[in-house]
Amino acid sequence: MSETTSPTRLPTLEELVTLCKRRGFIFPSSEIYGGYAGFFDYGPLGAELKKNIKDAWWKAMVHERDDIVGLDSTIIMHPEIWKASGHVDGFNDPMVDCKESKKRYRADQLFFAPVRVDGRVIGYVSVEESGTMQAEAEEKAHELKRKLAVQGTLEPVVLRDYLEAKPEEYALIPSPATGKPGSLTPPRQFNLMFETRVGPLADASSKAYLRPETAQGIFANFKNVVDTGRVKIPFGIAQIGKAFRNEITPRNFIFRSREFEQMEIEYFIDPDEATWPRVYREWIDTCKAWLTRIGIPAHMVGEDVHPQEKLSHYSKGTTDLTFEFPFGRQELWGIACRGDFDLKQHQLHSGKSMEYFDEARKQKYIPHVVEPSLGVDRTVLAVLTAAYSEDEVPNDKGEPERRVFLKFHPTVAPYKAAVFPLLKNKPELVETALRLHRQLRRRWNVFFDASGAIGRRYRRQDEIGTPWCITIDFETVEKDGTVTIRDRDSTSQVRVALDAVEGWIDKRLQDGA
Ligand code: GAP
Repeated sequence: MSETTSPTRLPTLEELVTLCKRRGFIFPSSEIYGGYAGFFDYGPLGAELKKNIKDAWWKAMVHERDDIVGLDSTIIMHPEIWKASGHVDGFNDPMVDCKESKKRYRADQLFFAPVRVDGRVIGYVSVEESGTMQAEAEEKAHELKRKLAVQGTLEPVVLRDYLEAKPEEYALIPSPATGKPGSLTPPRQFNLMFETRVGPLADASSKAYLRPETAQGIFANFKNVVDTGRVKIPFGIAQIGKAFRNEITPRNFIFRSREFEQMEIEYFIDPDEATWPRVYREWIDTCKAWLTRIGIPAHMVGEDVHPQEKLSHYSKGTTDLTFEFPFGRQELWGIACRGDFDLKQHQLHSGKSMEYFDEARKQKYIPHVVEPSLGVDRTVLAVLTAAYSEDEVPNDKGEPERRVFLKFHPTVAPYKAAVFPLLKNKPELVETALRLHRQLRRRWNVFFDASGAIGRRYRRQDEIGTPWCITIDFETVEKDGTVTIRDRDSTSQVRVALDAVEGWIDKRLQDGA
């Protein structure tokens, strides 16, 4: 089984959504009430997949390193934290409404262009951001020219986002929903923080927020960890947990949702100008290497370096690791150099010193920070996309049959193995299989299945990404005590002694981990 797998072709988002629903990975939240936009539930297999991803991250980032410790802070924190961090005033996205269709857009995801024929503007087109938006806009420009029966040469369509529109253009740009100009509002800022109340009084003093990132819980505990954790700079604090954002346009399945999970590290360093560029590069490489460890092939991952002029005032550098999602290359993991901004802000707002005494340098300073921030759900989507595979394999009658399977890396696969007795009405086969199942499940999540033709049972496990199927047959109980182990990807089988199966799986999991 290859460690780093690559899909035969990229699945469509619809194929992934359908497979996830059919096999119990991911369901729309509150489905019996018609669903709830931007919220998703993880079913039995999705919960395992997600847990395995989080465990693999924690193992690599916390347990296998001497310089990172873990944290689990609360979702609701003192509201002053979000004033200090800048979220209350500045965590906004620009929003545009279509007054006619009542559809809502994010202005930076809404693109428009004037349609020019021989230098003359004959109207405007608009599209929502997507991998195919250029082609879509060109098609709309051709259609407009045809509709208005304008003769001449259509000039190339140059798309700009709605934030770049001049006020006099607002009335001319059509809404993507209706195709008619004049119904879009100018962009206005919308704060993404979810508000809630703490305590019995419903007044201003009880207002609180659900955290929009796990990071601030780390900054707020910086002193606690330094004072109790025997840590020395450089060191990191890692946290996995829920985050909430009232996204204007949740979309692309679990890619952008309103409730999601993050895996974040704040890596504290000294303030020397020479330090952060080195640590920043190390973190980009560490993050890329970890993605390959969980089966995301390197060629599907890119680096998007934010241009200097787009960085926030305190940021020295940000690189997004992008992934080739079914809807185009998009951010998976952000690695940001945030300087001493956050700790300084908390020092200012809380009145508590965030200074650190560096024994080696005999110096006091507010540490700087490099922040690798990864979404769990986006990682689940990336893992599913990379694993989705198709081929043809012989069915029970020996005829070629199309197979859809998930080539999960064994580390993240919901089930590590499945155990089958060849026939369910032969007690000696069933008992041996059950005994093996009992033995293996003490170590891993292992499936047991006695029903149906063996080919169908293999196919079911292929579709949920189980790397190995172990079959107890008559040779096991009557002849040499060996079982067959079938490999999901190649479908080839080997015979292994019954008492060597646990070691056989263990070795492969260790090699791949
Ligand atoms: N502390 C920094 C921070 O939160 P971010 O770029 O806003 O930075 C970090 O988010 C990561 O969290 C993203 O790269 C993405 O993987 C994930 N993420 C952000 N918003 C998300 C959403 N609405 N749904 C799912 N994942 C999201």
